[in-house]
Amino acid sequence: MDLASHQDNILILDFGSQYTQLLARRVREANVYSSILPFNASITQIKRLRPKGLILSGGPSSSYHLGAPKASPKLFSLGIPILGICYGMQVIVQTKGGKVSGTTEREYGPATLKLDDTTDLFDQIGGKHTRTAVWMSHGDRIDRLPSGFTSIAHTANAPIAAMCDRTRRIFGLQFHPEVIHTPKGAQILRNFIYRVCGCSGTWNTTSWIDPMVATVRKQARSGRIICALSGGVDSTVAAALTHRAVGDRLTCVFVNNGLLRANEAQFVLHSLRTHLDLNLRYVDASQQFLRALKGVEDPERKRKIIGREFIRVFETEAKNINALSNESPVSYLVQGTLYPDVVESGATLGPSAVIKTHHNVGGLPARMKLKVIEPLRNLFKDEVRRLGTELGLPDAMIWRQPFPGPGLAIRIIGPVTRPSLKILREADTIVQEEVKPAGLGRKVWQAFAVLIPVRTVGIRGDKRSYEHVVAVRAVQSDDGMTADWVRLPHDLLGRIAHRITNEVKGVNRVVYDLSTKPPGTIEWE
Ligand code: XMP
Repeated sequence: MDLASHQDNILILDFGSQYTQLLARRVREANVYSSILPFNASITQIKRLRPKGLILSGGPSSSYHLGAPKASPKLFSLGIPILGICYGMQVIVQTKGGKVSGTTEREYGPATLKLDDTTDLFDQIGGKHTRTAVWMSHGDRIDRLPSGFTSIAHTANAPIAAMCDRTRRIFGLQFHPEVIHTPKGAQILRNFIYRVCGCSGTWNTTSWIDPMVATVRKQARSGRIICALSGGVDSTVAAALTHRAVGDRLTCVFVNNGLLRANEAQFVLHSLRTHLDLNLRYVDASQQFLRALKGVEDPERKRKIIGREFIRVFETEAKNINALSNESPVSYLVQGTLYPDVVESGATLGPSAVIKTHHNVGGLPARMKLKVIEPLRNLFKDEVRRLGTELGLPDAMIWRQPFPGPGLAIRIIGPVTRPSLKILREADTIVQEEVKPAGLGRKVWQAFAVLIPVRTVGIRGDKRSYEHVVAVRAVQSDDGMTADWVRLPHDLLGRIAHRITNEVKGVNRVVYDLSTKPPGTIEWE
């Protein structure tokens, strides 16, 4: 879906920074649509989006090294403003004939920026010579600016910490305005988006619905559509939106893959039937999934297998629906894929690594018989929630904790078996029962249990026990891209551990996961 060309937008070219998605979010938070393409996207691809400005992201390379990602010189003939960030700035300097070199005065972390020119990028930050905190992360520095450029800010270690060529509207920042450790970063980005690029802030919930509905209508002009509905916020919003676009041509299919939490299937069916007026089918495919996963240890293989089995179920369901009526056949499958799923699966990125193959993106087999429609593939989670509210869905559905498509399979380290699922479900139920009433509300993005299939020695009823370990994880996050562990009260943690070791047969030890993302991820697999 091409949301970009509908409105003012900023295009980010990814040179491999871990912050590229954050940049896209920050631009959207300023009410301007933004998308990401790899650094080497073709000029035709770029022009098609009609961006009002380009941002070249940071990246881990050194611009003067052979094989480092390069910026196409054609970018500079597009006639639109360009902002390079960190590596993006260095690559501009390199391309335009300046000099970048390695330095022993590397800067990682906080630095004090001193403004030398506050005309545009640093407007409303303070007057000339104002000092402001910024976040640095670079080992290279700019020794010589290309002709036409001037330095507009410096730090103690970087004499050129920001630059501009005002005539050609090209800017560079050595620091990262997108991270919260650069407190004036949002204003600096706004200055680029509004003052330099002249965008109008049209990206808001109401503006999304009509073009999205129109796009779905265009994608599925005729024929029947099925929607993979899990009861989570993404697929529920995708279903509601598609329903608005195509009405009764849509049938939603809720698949029990045998990897759901305790009572999840009943709960989801009940709430979908209560709140949404959809054609809904329930398929219990537990046996099929568990058989396919037998003995599989590798997390990526698990995801691929689950993706494959989902598609098999949907293809069978499509046949069943076709057999039931002689109206036009099912030709499309709607999925609630989000932008981070697309990006993390490597579909839009430059050189940054594939993190995980989210089952509904990378897991799709090449020989799919149904055409896939992903109405939310350009949105972040918080945007989907706002959209859901706009579509009239109740808070109880919108604010459900995210639950991964591959379900408990990626919370059991190693092979998935029925006994391990039983243990994990029981432990997980205790986590849910204890965390929910603790009144932490939306502070907890996700709270769950993970089964670690190692066994440790314990003592139970005067006897030696040799049983499994359960890890409890509770994280705080805005969008699942970064996360911190929640400081759950100690007595709550104690109660959870006590209940799990006492009530769940086969577990004698509980640990609490204190990892942040990065370097960890939210799920263990
Ligand atoms: P990670 O583990 O990548 O998770 O930090 C980020 C968010 O995504 C969810 N997640 C998935 N969702 N298919 C999904 O539909 C997947 O394969 C998958 N892996 C992780 C995770 O629960 C968290 O909310």
